[in-house]
Amino acid sequence: MYRTHTCGELRLSDTGQTVTLAGWVQKSRRMGGMSFVDIRDRYGITQLRIDETTDPKISETVARLGREFVIQATGVVEERQSKNAKIPTGEIEIRLTDLKVLNASLTPPFTIEDESDGGEDIRAKYRYLDLRRGPLKRALMLRHRMAHEVRNYLDGKGFLEIETPFLIKSTPEGARDFVVPSRMNPGEFYALPQSPQTFKQLLMVAGYDRYFQIVRCFRDEDLRADRQPEFTQIDCEMSFVEQEDVLEVFEGMMRHLFKEVIGVEIAPKIPRMSWYDAMDNYGSDKPDIRYGMKIHEITSLVQGHGFSVFDGVEYVGAIAVPGCAGYTRKQTDELTEWVKRPQVGAKGLVYIKVNEDGSVKSSVDKFYTPEEVQAIAAAAGAQKGDLVLVLCGAKRKAQTMLGVLRIEMGNRLGLRNPHEYAPLWVVDFPLLEWDDETQRFYAMHHPFTAPKPEHLDWFYSNKKEDLERVCANAYDFVLNGVELGGGSIRIHEADVQQRMFEVLGISKEDADYKFGFIINAFKFGAPPHGGLAFGFDRVCALFGGQETIRDYIAFPKNNMGRDVMLDAPSRIDDVQMDELFLRSTAPEK
Ligand code: AMO
Repeated sequence: MYRTHTCGELRLSDTGQTVTLAGWVQKSRRMGGMSFVDIRDRYGITQLRIDETTDPKISETVARLGREFVIQATGVVEERQSKNAKIPTGEIEIRLTDLKVLNASLTPPFTIEDESDGGEDIRAKYRYLDLRRGPLKRALMLRHRMAHEVRNYLDGKGFLEIETPFLIKSTPEGARDFVVPSRMNPGEFYALPQSPQTFKQLLMVAGYDRYFQIVRCFRDEDLRADRQPEFTQIDCEMSFVEQEDVLEVFEGMMRHLFKEVIGVEIAPKIPRMSWYDAMDNYGSDKPDIRYGMKIHEITSLVQGHGFSVFDGVEYVGAIAVPGCAGYTRKQTDELTEWVKRPQVGAKGLVYIKVNEDGSVKSSVDKFYTPEEVQAIAAAAGAQKGDLVLVLCGAKRKAQTMLGVLRIEMGNRLGLRNPHEYAPLWVVDFPLLEWDDETQRFYAMHHPFTAPKPEHLDWFYSNKKEDLERVCANAYDFVLNGVELGGGSIRIHEADVQQRMFEVLGISKEDADYKFGFIINAFKFGAPPHGGLAFGFDRVCALFGGQETIRDYIAFPKNNMGRDVMLDAPSRIDDVQMDELFLRSTAPEK
């Protein structure tokens, strides 16, 4: 037997027992004729004690130990002289009677401690060492607990977990596909699923009325803190449901996860907000409602006063930032530069300071009387001591910029406490989104989302403004400004699906070629259905108090989509290229 206990297990009540532990050397030190070694495994750390005078042989072995050596230690559990209240095993130590080195280790390239001295790149290269650290261990344990509780909850509600294939035909979720060449079918490619969307709908046609899967998805898109090229969804679909049924089941799932995984009770009813209200008030389809600082439209108040920047635009909006009237010139200049960054895209920033005595000072005092400035500040919801920030432009663009600024100010003011949870359903999304560049509509969610039944007339109209008004029973689950999940009630009739492809500018031939299988399936008794998918990595990260998902994935990719440890992607040799009928045109690195 390699061990009798783990390194996180022993307590004062075990005093006197002879035990054997196995694990890694965290550190060793000598003090006044004694040696101490901290042994670590997945479960914790235990202190080992060696008396140099009584155990010279073991002391010799200890002297040869380096960090991360794998050892097996046998001894007697004793009460410690100086206790360590920071660790659960801190009241005891083991007086060694035997010590074996099971394997030596090179000196690790960074310290394996909660706060490591290693940079991101080196830790990514040695991910298996980074995974030995406490924060990553806790992240993966949380992920495991979460998956377990998802299965518990959904199994209890009658959902079947069914796997779907990875080598498939392209599914349109809005990102690029990763493709896999087929040796047996020269010149042809599989696509890896961006989600199992079409399969789960086919399972509904097949009669499996409650499906779920914790499933890997693949999307070739630009990466961000909360995006990975391969990520995991909790993917779900239900038959014979309306929006309300879906929201109820998954509100229940989130409540269950909050309670069972992190012991948090969330409000009995998760608030709902329409997509239009979210955009108008928060400038985002995933508003962070932990704080106010809402956007207010002030277009009519500011136009017609000779200030040309405002006069020519569709929309002027403002937020009132609490307690920031004291911002210096340097600070407002810095904010102006901040909103001009390409990531925000504003041309400039107008501000109004509402002083504690109620007087106002603005960057546009030339164009407005103090009373007018007061009225603008009041319309922006400002109180004494607030700083009003104003941006303008095309309506949705200006609102989005204000939304980004609102989040930034929330961060600067410490209003975004990661351990406060404000879940929200955003509902009533527009079905379609017009793209000026390509002069066509795109599906805001995906092409299988159904128009609201009461908007079908607009859906069949050929006027752009009618189509823009069509809404969908589509919904997103948002937590603290992050989109955790999304779904919709689907189209289940072949002719409606055909019309959707037509609206999206996909020709009948193209639709048949790409989606003939699903249009066909709808002709064989497809039940009304709907569902959603949660981003599992995001749920884990947010429950852990983070927005970055990388630490919640055992082997993630970096910002360039590379696995630094494997050094992938990489070239393949000519034989393999020939077998797959591929020719590289990429330059040698
Ligand atoms: P959607 O595309 O909204 O919907 O994806 C669902 C959820 O998956 C997460 N997510 C991601 N997480 C990490 N990295 C990524 N690159 C990434 N992309 C998406 C998000 C998102 O809310 N088939 C539909 C669902 C449905 O309609 O049932 C779909 O995939 O948290």
